[in-house]
Amino acid sequence: MKFQSIKGTKDILPHDIYKWRYIEEKVRSIFERFGYREIRTPIFEETALFRRSIGETTDIVGKEMYSFQPDPDSESLTLRPEMTASVIRAYLQHNLASQSALTKVYYIAELFRKERPQAGRQRQFWQFGCECIGSAEPEADAEIIALMMSIYQELGVPNTVLRLNSLGDAHTRKVYREVLREYLRPHYDRLDDVSKERFEKNPLRILDSKNPDLQELIAHAPRIIDYLDDASREHFQAVQDFLHDFGITFTIDHCLVRGLDYYSRTAFELQSPDLGAQNALGGGGRYDGLASLLGSEKPVPAVGFASGMERLIMTMEKYQLFSAAKPLAPTVMIVAQSESARRWAIGTAQLFRREGIATEVDILRRSMKSQLREANRLGAKYAVIAGEQEMQSGHFQLKNLMTGEQRALLLSEILEHIKVDK
Ligand code: HAM
Repeated sequence: MKFQSIKGTKDILPHDIYKWRYIEEKVRSIFERFGYREIRTPIFEETALFRRSIGETTDIVGKEMYSFQPDPDSESLTLRPEMTASVIRAYLQHNLASQSALTKVYYIAELFRKERPQAGRQRQFWQFGCECIGSAEPEADAEIIALMMSIYQELGVPNTVLRLNSLGDAHTRKVYREVLREYLRPHYDRLDDVSKERFEKNPLRILDSKNPDLQELIAHAPRIIDYLDDASREHFQAVQDFLHDFGITFTIDHCLVRGLDYYSRTAFELQSPDLGAQNALGGGGRYDGLASLLGSEKPVPAVGFASGMERLIMTMEKYQLFSAAKPLAPTVMIVAQSESARRWAIGTAQLFRREGIATEVDILRRSMKSQLREANRLGAKYAVIAGEQEMQSGHFQLKNLMTGEQRALLLSEILEHIKVDK
């Protein structure tokens, strides 16, 4: 019997890992440059946390969560489908508000959603993202968007489209839901089954429909920004003004509603036309009501975003943006030319490694020729070659595998040379 990875999950193999590490290192350095610190939370949480945060009527909670009950008397647990709920849970649990007025955290995390797998959509996938907790001001929204854009810009991703909308406050959304229902009611029979279901539960999500037959209807729907309260309208304008100041271009998308219910005011998404159906590279927004939903006595304003790793990698592969990222390679391969040199080679490799030099040595007792072939395959910069004669003289051959240049040196000289050049 041969086992296979589960549908919708993927192995990330050693020859591809450099791409992940390249992005992760870049992303970490940008988050930290913006003053964010890493947070790691458990992979599973109480199911109720996600139900309450993301919303009962969302696709995620309705049909995509991996929930389980470890034993008959315990509560239901769920593999995290996103990070925002966990971060706010941790923020409240550890009273991070008492440490500073503003909490800025980032994460690189694997998540689980039981979606129909397709290109760019998996059941286990990775996100990087961040949450800025404690500021209700529009500069927080603008800074989060600028941070997200910096990541794509510094990675060189072309052709992205930033879409922006405001979902107002809870009252606005309540009024607008009714307005939208009234508008859609005469066309109810034209709606597809999914939209009919959303009509009752969450009509805003109909605006998200990709069904070509509904696009005309959606395009003429009343717009939520026409129902914003004054404070939300001013907030939205201020976010746009900051983005203009930063030189960030965006389009207002009246149909952008996002698939999670906790958003209020600003919502945004970065899309790439290169991705096909799953075109969202990342998205986020403000969620001022979430902490209260999770039991906070005081309201806690917050804004954040998260981005899919797999989709970013697909886009970067398409544009060949990994040329600056080098696969890991050893600095040196110790090559034994004779039987007597093998033992010396193994010991010398240990010595080099202790000195902090990435070193390979043959442990398959291969011929010298195939050891050198292996050094080239691995991309080693140097080979240190030892045969009978070298063992006796104490002078070993240091070969630069990039230039072909070769010299006989004492081991101490070789070490010095490699350390300087590492
Ligand atoms: P989200 O829009 O559900 O937002 O996910 C953010 C990004 O994760 C998406 O734009 C996409 O790139 C990636 N993604 C989502 N689902 C999948 C999947 N099944 N396979 C591959 N990639 C996927 C959130 O998760 C919010 N927590 C973002 C946020 C943070 N809002 C405020 N703070």
